[in-house]
Amino acid sequence: MKAIAVVPGKKNSVHLAELPKPSVSDVPNGRGVLVRVLRVGVDGTDREINDAVYGAPPPGSDFLVLGHEGFGRVEAVGPRVTELAPGDYAVATVRRPGMSLYDLIGTQDMTTDDTYLERGINLLHGFLTEHYVDDADHIVKVPKGAAGVGVLLEPLTVVEKAIAQGYEIQRRLRVWRPRRAAVVGTGTIGLLATLVLRLRGLDVVAFGKQPTPHKNAELVQALGARYVTTGEFTVAHGARQFGPFDLIIEGSGFSPLVFDAMQGLAKNGVLVLTSVTGGDRKIEVPADKLNLDFVLGNRVMVGSVNAGREYFETGVRDMAHAESAYPGWLANLLTHPVIGLERYDELFAKLANPNGAIKIYCEVAPL
Ligand code: BGC
Ligand code: ZN
Repeated sequence: MKAIAVVPGKKNSVHLAELPKPSVSDVPNGRGVLVRVLRVGVDGTDREINDAVYGAPPPGSDFLVLGHEGFGRVEAVGPRVTELAPGDYAVATVRRPGMSLYDLIGTQDMTTDDTYLERGINLLHGFLTEHYVDDADHIVKVPKGAAGVGVLLEPLTVVEKAIAQGYEIQRRLRVWRPRRAAVVGTGTIGLLATLVLRLRGLDVVAFGKQPTPHKNAELVQALGARYVTTGEFTVAHGARQFGPFDLIIEGSGFSPLVFDAMQGLAKNGVLVLTSVTGGDRKIEVPADKLNLDFVLGNRVMVGSVNAGREYFETGVRDMAHAESAYPGWLANLLTHPVIGLERYDELFAKLANPNGAIKIYCEVAPL
C-alpha cells in the first residue's frame, strides 16, 4: 500500500513510499484494530518534519510515514476487541507509552521521558497511508454524525487538554468562576479553542494576525466571540479594554506573543501555552514587571502538549455539542482538501504556503 513519507533529517524529502498492508494479528494480544484511512490533516509539525527540524524514523526504517491527524473506518478487529466493530468511524491517539510513571498509568501525554513515541512524528509510522493497525486502547470511536468533521478531532484534543489543564490547575483557588478568556492565534488551534471556550460559556476575545475582513475573523464572530488584530491591539491592551482575562490559551506559533499574553492575565488567572516553536528566536522582555505581576497576582503559566485518550473522548462530545450550538461551524474549517496520497507534492506545497487555508488535509479515500 502507498504512504506519504519523509527521510527524517533530510530537508524536503517528502515522497510516496510503499508498505506492506498491516493486519489485526500484528497486535499480538487480540486487541488489534485494522483501520482504513479516510482523511488525514496536516499541520506545522508535518511541515517541520519535512524541513528536517523535527522527527525520527522507527528503528530499522530509513523513512517515516507522516500524518498524526488521522480519521478512518474500522475494517477488522481482533477477538478481544469489544468497543469497536467493523464499519465504525475512528481516530487514533498520537503518543504511545514510554517508560515513565506517567506512561505506566496511561497518561503518556504527561511523559517525563526524553524521547517520546508519537505516530507520524517520532519513532512510529503515522496515518498518511491506506491502512493502519493499532491496539484498541489507542483508538476512539467517532459517531456517524461527526464523520464529516472527524479529521478535526486530533487538533481539537490538543485544545481540550490545554483548557482542561487550565481548569485543573485552578482547583487551587477553591472557587474559580472564569468569565473572560483570550485566545492568542486564530489558526486551527485558536479557532478550536475559541469554540470550546464558547461552549463552556465564556466571553472570548481572539487575537489574530490578519486584519478584518477575514475568514478566520468571521468564524470567531460566528461563535459570538470578539476578534481583534494583533497589529492594532496587544493582549495587554485588549485586557485593559475588554479584560483582564481569567484564562488565556496561546496557540499562535509565535513565541513573543507569550510575553504579551502574560501581561493580559487577570489576578489568579492562568495562561496555557500550546505552540511548538522549534526556532531560536530571542526578544527583550520587561522581566521585573512580568515577575512582579505574576507574584503579586498569584498568576500561573503552564505548557500543554499532546493529548491522552480522555481528551479524545471529550473532543468527540464537544463535536456533537458544537454541531447543536453552532451548526455547520466546524465544517467551515475544512478549507483545503487534497485528493489522493499521490498528490503529496500539492499537499506540502499548500502547507508551505497556506494562503488563507485553515485545515489542509489529504482525502485518502471517500467518506
Ligand atoms: C501534535 C501533538 C504532538 C506535538 C509534539 C503536535 O503537532 O498534534 O500530538 O504531541 O505536535 O510532537
Ligand atoms: Zn499536530
